[in-house]
Amino acid sequence: MAGAELIGREELAEIQELFSKEKVNLYRYGGGNYKAREFEEKFAAYMGVKYAHAVSSGTAAIHCALAGAGIEPGDEVITTAWTFIAPIEAISALGAVPVPVELDETYHLDPAEVEKAITPATKAVVAIPMWAPPKMDEIAAICKKHNLLLIEDAAQALGASYKGRKLGTFGSVGSFSFDAGKTLHTGEGGIIVTNDKEIYDRAAEFSDHGHMHLPGLPRGKDPRRAKGLNLRLSEVTAAIGLAQLAKIEMILSKSKENKRKIKEGIRHLDNITLRPFSDEAGSQGDTLIFKVRDHDAALQFEAHLMEHGFGTKILPEALDWHFAGVWGHLLGEYDRYSNADLEALWPKTGALLRSSVCLNIPVLIDDATIDKLVQAIISGSKKIG
Ligand SMILES: Cc1ncc(COP(=O)(O)O)c(C=O)c1O
Repeated sequence: MAGAELIGREELAEIQELFSKEKVNLYRYGGGNYKAREFEEKFAAYMGVKYAHAVSSGTAAIHCALAGAGIEPGDEVITTAWTFIAPIEAISALGAVPVPVELDETYHLDPAEVEKAITPATKAVVAIPMWAPPKMDEIAAICKKHNLLLIEDAAQALGASYKGRKLGTFGSVGSFSFDAGKTLHTGEGGIIVTNDKEIYDRAAEFSDHGHMHLPGLPRGKDPRRAKGLNLRLSEVTAAIGLAQLAKIEMILSKSKENKRKIKEGIRHLDNITLRPFSDEAGSQGDTLIFKVRDHDAALQFEAHLMEHGFGTKILPEALDWHFAGVWGHLLGEYDRYSNADLEALWPKTGALLRSSVCLNIPVLIDDATIDKLVQAIISGSKKIG
């Protein structure tokens, strides 16, 4: 839950400040406005990049990132078979071809599978960090070797890093979400980050019907060089984002500390395997993933945790939604997938997800509740034998 747990007075104060202006304008391209700009500048500074452009959702953000990077109809875009469907929707909305590939043991793009999936039509690789870093060195090297764009949909991974460098800053462009399950929460919202002025401009144009925002021109006369949509962020959302961004270090450090305590309590259990990392120091505290014997054991574990008042997050239920094997309603539009048994296309990923459990680690959890959770995991591990 992260930022969503902390919505309160500070967010309200930012909105009140916006409404204290003599002439309130909630439209980001209205005259005299500043919340969206300020949010973008502060976010870019936090990320250590030149440009940030905020939009209406994380789905919009990856859509703008891909459009800004020049993904076109027919381009193949390699990405992971375990994620929320939004990046696949964005690839498909641009007329490009999503190519999900199998996971490695860290639950991310397997570099060997990426290399295997490259064809002359491949234009980009979208790395999707799931609260932790993929093997970024290897993925970046493959992109360089094959002259492919590297894009990061880091919706789930704001604040995570790889070898000290923030995720979202490895490729040409990165995107983030501010929905209710993410590090920061603004109701709805998302943002792209890049050091490339051309990508930034094109992404911003895409988010606003193609408008180039040339200074001094009335909107009707503002030129367009490519089509777009309305994926704009409102000033109210940006105001909330400013208050949330001020809390980011606290959110990240508290959840990491909570996760450390939980891991300490369960590390000795020999029938659950904590997920390995490409760089554990760079992982977030938001989630804890472990693997058990098989799918039945994962379901039994999930039911046991529920009995003790703790829910799971995405796993093992990913098989119903966060897995390429169940995206027939979208992938079915492509010849290569339309007659395929989708689940059979990613057997390694299916098996890993089926036997895994993922827990949400709140920011606001006291030591007594942490202890209860640890005890529930210990008794769950005994139950599955
Ligand atoms: C990898 C990824 N990309 C994009 C999104 C979409 O974000 P939003 O819900 O803000 O549209 C999500 C949401 O979970 C996500 O996990």
